[in-house]
Amino acid sequence: MIKIDVKAGAASKQRDDAVVLPLLDGRKLTESGKELQQATGNVLPDFLRKFDILGAFGKARTLYGVTALHTHRIMLIGAGEERELTLHGLRRLAATAARELDKGGARDVSFYLTELNVRGAGLPDKVQAVAEGIWLGLYAFDKYQTEKEENSRKLRAVTIMVPSRRDLERVEGALASAHAISAGTNLARDLGNEPGNVCTPEFLGEQAATLEHSGLKVTVMNKAAIEQAGLTALLAVNQGSAREPRFIVLEYQGGEKGVAPVALVGKGLTFDAGGISIKPAAQMDEMKFDMCGSAAVLGIFKAVIELNLPVNLLGVIASTENLLGPGAYKPGDIVTTYKGLTIEVQNTDAEGRIILSDALAYAAERKPAEIIDFATLTGACVIALGSQASGLLGTGEKLKKGLKASGNRTHDRVWELPLFDEYQDQIKSEIADIRNIGGREAGTITAACFLSRFVDDIPWAHLDIAGTAWNMKGTDIAPAGATGAGVRLVVDYLRRKGD
Ligand code: BES
Ligand code: MN
Ligand code: ZN
Repeated sequence: MIKIDVKAGAASKQRDDAVVLPLLDGRKLTESGKELQQATGNVLPDFLRKFDILGAFGKARTLYGVTALHTHRIMLIGAGEERELTLHGLRRLAATAARELDKGGARDVSFYLTELNVRGAGLPDKVQAVAEGIWLGLYAFDKYQTEKEENSRKLRAVTIMVPSRRDLERVEGALASAHAISAGTNLARDLGNEPGNVCTPEFLGEQAATLEHSGLKVTVMNKAAIEQAGLTALLAVNQGSAREPRFIVLEYQGGEKGVAPVALVGKGLTFDAGGISIKPAAQMDEMKFDMCGSAAVLGIFKAVIELNLPVNLLGVIASTENLLGPGAYKPGDIVTTYKGLTIEVQNTDAEGRIILSDALAYAAERKPAEIIDFATLTGACVIALGSQASGLLGTGEKLKKGLKASGNRTHDRVWELPLFDEYQDQIKSEIADIRNIGGREAGTITAACFLSRFVDDIPWAHLDIAGTAWNMKGTDIAPAGATGAGVRLVVDYLRRKGD
């Protein structure tokens, strides 16, 4: 991630390759725009008039070679109506500007975006949003493109300008937060984007082990250890794969000893072909992203460690491939879980809930204060909510309320679906305790009903990130591929706990 500093100073005095100024609806400049206009005579008004820039949100135009200035470029970026501006709007503007300047050959840039007024937001919030926009927006996953377009003039450093030198101290923490959150999100994206032949269960275990901190203990169980521990549901799904599974346990102590942790549980299917109930070929390649739940867990740990958050966390990740090898589990099989409950397998493609049953039961056994799980669990959730919100279901009312608030604050949003008792009937089995599919109706809910059998009475929230974890069109702040969904959301939730 590139270097970002915070400074104060007049736009007309900057010596960077470019300055970025917002332009509000109706071609209205902000304070620094007006200052720059004073220093340059008619250049800006002429430009605005001739080039038909109206300040539409996200549209940028660049003015080159203004002789009165030390900077080579003035980028005007449309910010729309100021009263409609949100923190996520700032994040988007920063991402757009950073990407265009990076492509355009600017090496160092000053951003004058924090003088925009955002209802309900203070300067630190705005600095955090702008920094996140830059770091998330510039993310690229291009390590496998060996024939790169050579661009020696990549963006190297950004300065986020604030109104006054007196503000510098109080925004330091905001910049540090943005750094940790972006690093965690970008780690989750990297893990998600790695192909299935690289990001294997073993690889996820190695990645978890590289997260170092004096307060963190990482245990990675191989197949023998998983057998020893009796994580039999995970082993059943693993039967069709030539690769060993992994079960990863992370224990972070940032809070007081003895305080029950928050448990974060992740689905780590490094490739989901569906098993014997094989998926259609179209877009099956996207099932390399079926480990994005576990990637979110690791991303959150990375951010929490960097921020030294005063919380205790328990991370539990179950990882395997779901393939069709000769030993593969089959429709009709009955699987006994770690907890002892039996599952009638009616569709081997509903494998996520099966491995999560062991991960959740293992976590619940440790008596955490709360459990949050992350899983690309159901295609039904993509149909219900699309890519704008993760599905939220569960039993922890306070927990769900906190997650909704964090979702709105960070724009890593969630939407609740009901977990009414009556839905449990859909997963009744004639010959085992439960079956692993609940029929065509309410697919996201019946999947959550299944999970609910393994969390005891611990307050629990399930995040179905099937529609949000990756986006093949790209988003405002992410290129096509994994998005890191869940990281901003839950880091915000954990930071505000106890507030
Ligand atoms: N990993 C998939 C869910 C998924 C599908 C996520 C498409 C994102 C896009 C999961 O393991 C799965 O296959 N679920 C099945 C369950 C069904 C068989 C009850 C599904 O949603 O089709
Ligand atoms: Mn599946
Ligand atoms: Zn899956």
